[in-house]
Amino acid sequence: MLQLLRDLGAQLAWQRDAGLLDTPSQGPLPVASAVAAPVPVRAPPPAAPPPAAPAPVAVAAPPVAEAPAAPPTAPAPTAAPVLPEPVKVTPPAAALAPVAPANFEGRAGALRVIQEEVRACRACGLAAKRTQTVFARGNPEARLCFIGEGPGADEDRTGLPFVGVAGQLLDRIIAAMRLTEDQVYIANIVKCRPPNNRVPYEEEMSACTPFLLRQLEVVKPEVIVALGKTAAGFLLQDKSSMTAMRGRWHSWKGVPVMPTWHPSYVLRVRDDPKSTARAEVWTDMKLVLERLGLPVPSPRG
Ligand code: URA
Repeated sequence: MLQLLRDLGAQLAWQRDAGLLDTPSQGPLPVASAVAAPVPVRAPPPAAPPPAAPAPVAVAAPPVAEAPAAPPTAPAPTAAPVLPEPVKVTPPAAALAPVAPANFEGRAGALRVIQEEVRACRACGLAAKRTQTVFARGNPEARLCFIGEGPGADEDRTGLPFVGVAGQLLDRIIAAMRLTEDQVYIANIVKCRPPNNRVPYEEEMSACTPFLLRQLEVVKPEVIVALGKTAAGFLLQDKSSMTAMRGRWHSWKGVPVMPTWHPSYVLRVRDDPKSTARAEVWTDMKLVLERLGLPVPSPRG
């Protein structure tokens, strides 16, 4: 219940910040929203219920990296943000198992194999400067994948994607969608930090993206959100501007892709009163929820 209240608070904060609420005052939480059931990660199978099913599907996350300590305070956009719980990391249960669709252990195992290859990779110049590789976080069975550009300093230090301030904003977006980290899978175009957070060079992307493609083949998301121009440009092989690409559906190998503004960009323009980036991200995420057949939270919860 506490988590639900937190998530709802985060959603309201996001919507208020996005200009979807008239008033900064959130008032008491409506009971109906506060008791809303969590959304399942995958639709339940149509067949007969399994006899005495074992524990529900666990949440896997990259095996090696430590969970970051309590995240630093995020820059407040227009009001004090309500952040969801810090990132939770659970070691995978996986022994190495063959990939079997809809098999959690199999997916986690297959991802672990790829992660080991990433860890050993020295295919481009980024390897020399990294502290460690940054593979992914979230659930290998997620219906929804978020793909970013590449690790920054916080990610290079912790080994997990999107744990810095941009990651905190991404977590708030996910919470505003009434999803949790257990219901998404988050990865990047490149797995090593480009110096000074520059955009990865073409040759670095060429060397690294086969890993991402294999990750996506294993996770088999129903929808992909491409965060920013680097991710959208690579997945869609389209060099159009984000303004041209965002807000409408594209396709990667038949999987619907929604490009949207990168959280770092949203943070960069947050003090520009003319910027519509934040509201546009929410518009895009509503399309994503609709596409997944999930409820779209109303601005008033
Ligand atoms: N952190 C990431 O992991 N990826 C990005 O694209 C930005 C920050």
